Amino acid sequence: MRHFEWLSERIVALGGRPTLEREEILKEGAMPRLIAHDLEGEEQAIARYRLHQKLIGEEELVRLLERIISDEEAHREALSEILHELETSTESGASEKEAESAEVNSSLSEELARLNRGVRHEYTVILDYLYHAFTAAGCEEKEELLKVAVDEMKHLGWLAEKVEELGGRPEIDTEGEIPRTGLEEMLRRSLVTEERVIAEYAEDSRVLPEPSLRQMLERIRGHEVYHQYLLARLLAELAERRGPAWTVGSLLGEPQEQKR
Ligand SMILES: [Fe+2]
Ligand SMILES: [Fe+2]
Ligand SMILES: [Fe+2]
Repeated sequence: MRHFEWLSERIVALGGRPTLEREEILKEGAMPRLIAHDLEGEEQAIARYRLHQKLIGEEELVRLLERIISDEEAHREALSEILHELETSTESGASEKEAESAEVNSSLSEELARLNRGVRHEYTVILDYLYHAFTAAGCEEKEELLKVAVDEMKHLGWLAEKVEELGGRPEIDTEGEIPRTGLEEMLRRSLVTEERVIAEYAEDSRVLPEPSLRQMLERIRGHEVYHQYLLARLLAELAERRGPAWTVGSLLGEPQEQKR
């Protein structure tokens, strides 16, 4: 995420817009195969950054790329250690999982569908908030959006782990194309989205009986309520700087307070 941030900021400083396209994510297969694929990804990234250092030659950017490479090298080491451990431990573990997930009963599939709806939502807003944080001109907006994005990452992690625990596969895909707009339009859109997921998570926690699941969903929902408030505040401040007097309350549909 930090690398995404640094590179995006450089791109924006140069007058460009960061891409939101992603490389292919391998989602099926035994764990050693998946980790080997990740390891390959790190190696390719290192080689690509080295090439870019030669092509660009601008000192600041070369140093930034060197900083990023040092992380990727650490990732490469960590992944190759994990791969080594997986290859030397018993080789039966990987196929067990496949067999388990084949027979998911229908109440479980309802559970998985609900959790995966959350997974897709969280993945979408992570990218949405990060993109607009990286392209935002104001420092305060940037900071706040990054904080919200980190919350959404936690949500994604919790939900995805639950999906795995239940024998499913987390659907790490976006809900659709992410609109790349100005900050104000994005904030308006996000208020609606947060409102929607507050209702969805409330419904999920009513429908899904398992106590630890309900607790997790309620916790996520609590965060989303706060996000909605935070985004409304940012939008109100943005609008106030431009003129007409909006308040957090009016944006959340509460009765207008008199302000003069
Ligand atoms: Fe990496
Ligand atoms: Fe969330
Ligand atoms: Fe949120």
